Amino acid sequence: MNRNWIALGLAAVTATAALAHQNVQNPAVQARMDNMTALARQVEILGTMARGETAFDAAAANAALDRISGQANRIIDLFEAPETDPQSEARAGIWENFANFSGRAQELELLAAGLAGSVEDRGSLVTALRRVGASCSGCHEDYRLNRN
Ligand code: HEC
Repeated sequence: MNRNWIALGLAAVTATAALAHQNVQNPAVQARMDNMTALARQVEILGTMARGETAFDAAAANAALDRISGQANRIIDLFEAPETDPQSEARAGIWENFANFSGRAQELELLAAGLAGSVEDRGSLVTALRRVGASCSGCHEDYRLNRN
């Protein structure tokens, strides 16, 4: 299956998780970043499993997808106020197009909810990982500075 994609997608996510911001002054910005880091941790669970670095475990993968849905559900509330911080990578476009931004968050929530329970073998795991990863990257391309 598409190992390159998994390696690349995971590299992006784990790199960003490793670089999770510290010393953020605005607690509202820290909270929305923490929720993003929590999302990245779940994607990391799926990615390490897809690459065979951890044993395949359908229940654990489906539970991670379920957590992604719950974390995605918090994005709109966490970003609603146009909070800023020198460490933030949020683009101003979020608040100029908040309905669109909210739609992206809801897409991820519904996608992950639909995928939770779908993982039964490595193929369905890779499919779920790809679809979730595309949803993360799609929003980052439009609304996050210097990242994908
Ligand atoms: C609705 C849009 C949206 C979706 C969907 C989204 N993100 Fe983000 N993400 C952002 C924005 C905006 C930022 C920058 C926030 C800031 O710096 O204030 C961000 C930041 C991050 C960060 C950096 C956190 C930090 O400490 O600076 C990580 C890691 C991350 N996202 C992972 C993910 C993963 C993994 C997914 C998918 C499971 C995802 N994101 C889905 C918009 C989104």
